[in-house]
Amino acid sequence: MQPHPTRSVVVLGSTGSIGTQALDVIARNPQRFRVAGLAAGGRRVDLLARQAAESGAEVVAVADTAAVPALREALAAHRSTARILAGPDGVAELAAWPCDVVLNGIDGALGLASTLAALEAGRTLALANKESLIMGGPLVKRLVKPGRLLPVDSEHSALAQCLWAEGPPGEGEWIGRSVRRLVVTASGGPFRGRSRAEMADVTPEQAMAHPTWSMGPVVTVNSATLVNKGLEVIEAHLLFDIEFDRITVMVHPQSVVHSMVEFMDGSVIAQASPPDMRLPIALALGWPERVPQAARPVDWTTAHTWTFEPLDDEAFPSVALARRVGMAGGTAPAVYNAANEVCVEAFRKGRLPFLGIVDTVAKVVDQHDPTPAESIEEILDADAWARARAAELVGR
Ligand SMILES: NC(=O)c1ccc[n+]([C@@H]2O[C@H](COP(=O)([O-])OP(=O)(O)OC[C@H]3O[C@@H](n4cnc5c(N)ncnc54)[C@H](OP(=O)(O)O)[C@@H]3O)[C@@H](O)[C@H]2O)c1
Repeated sequence: MQPHPTRSVVVLGSTGSIGTQALDVIARNPQRFRVAGLAAGGRRVDLLARQAAESGAEVVAVADTAAVPALREALAAHRSTARILAGPDGVAELAAWPCDVVLNGIDGALGLASTLAALEAGRTLALANKESLIMGGPLVKRLVKPGRLLPVDSEHSALAQCLWAEGPPGEGEWIGRSVRRLVVTASGGPFRGRSRAEMADVTPEQAMAHPTWSMGPVVTVNSATLVNKGLEVIEAHLLFDIEFDRITVMVHPQSVVHSMVEFMDGSVIAQASPPDMRLPIALALGWPERVPQAARPVDWTTAHTWTFEPLDDEAFPSVALARRVGMAGGTAPAVYNAANEVCVEAFRKGRLPFLGIVDTVAKVVDQHDPTPAESIEEILDADAWARARAAELVGR
């Protein structure tokens, strides 16, 4: 068998949940991957410097320029000779750095500039930062070369694997003629089974206690409101070019079946593995080759029960709202995402009740007149407008 050529990887958001797991995959597979560069916001410079030293990264970018002196000191302390790039432009420069794969694990709308920079430079992009695809929509898609945008979200990785059963996708064509629908699974989050009234007083601590996944704070709250699932429905529509009415969400509390594809003949193909993001990360970095022992498989020596139930749209209106926003298109998804980011922060700081998150996002979305989102300026204007409007409604 031919040895795999080593792929050089730039990890954006290296100090976060996705970033640290990506570095673990890379460290365990030195013959397959090596780190070319790392980027983070600047809140955890010691961790960033340690990562640079351990991975041998040649360049490190930090978004917060004020963190540069501390980073320089920490790099010296960890005996790393990595070059420093500073500020949002430095992060974007690293996103376009010569390498085989750029992994975008930045959280939230701040990831858009890096997604655009990586794609404009013709890089292969392993995308965890779903927000950038959702905000950028057609603008981002126009920059994608066939086979160069690889999903890291476990659901979309699962869908890609199930669709592979049809054979490799052609020029940007994932959905063959034999696909009837995509079934995106959702754990249901910590408040699954509750009515709206039963969620009126939930606290940030309760919302942060996800039953099956350990993730960064924003995506964890988004999993409790199911806004994350709403974003993922829009992500599936954009990644796989499929209409919203052919995307179904099913609640599957065990988070073992990560999504499914239903074919025209009535057959359903599912992808199953215990919840561990290192599997979809490894697949995106090594695509289309699988990385041996990327994660622990299902234990077939014990009994399992996997359950599926329809989503309660009344208790969790965020997914229906996301469908509406996705169908409106243009700047509407950017507004949904930006308003949500403001509301999540207000909730985490105790300034907005849990139910206020999606209620406020719905109000902001309803007050927005979407435009086609043909330029980055238009998208950033919509994002800024939504943030300001949400902040007014939240009361600050
Ligand atoms: N975690 C999961 O299991 C999971 C699963 C599926 C999808 N995702 C998606 O993956 C993305 C990352 O999620 P996460 O859970 O890993 O978030 P996280 O733990 O909060 O990590 C975010 C990372 O982004 C960095 N960062 C923040 N602002 C930045 C900027 N302007 N430039 C460069 N880096 C910046 C942070 O650096 P600092 O340390 O300096 O703050 C940190 O390294 C999100 O889009 C999320 O929806 C996550």
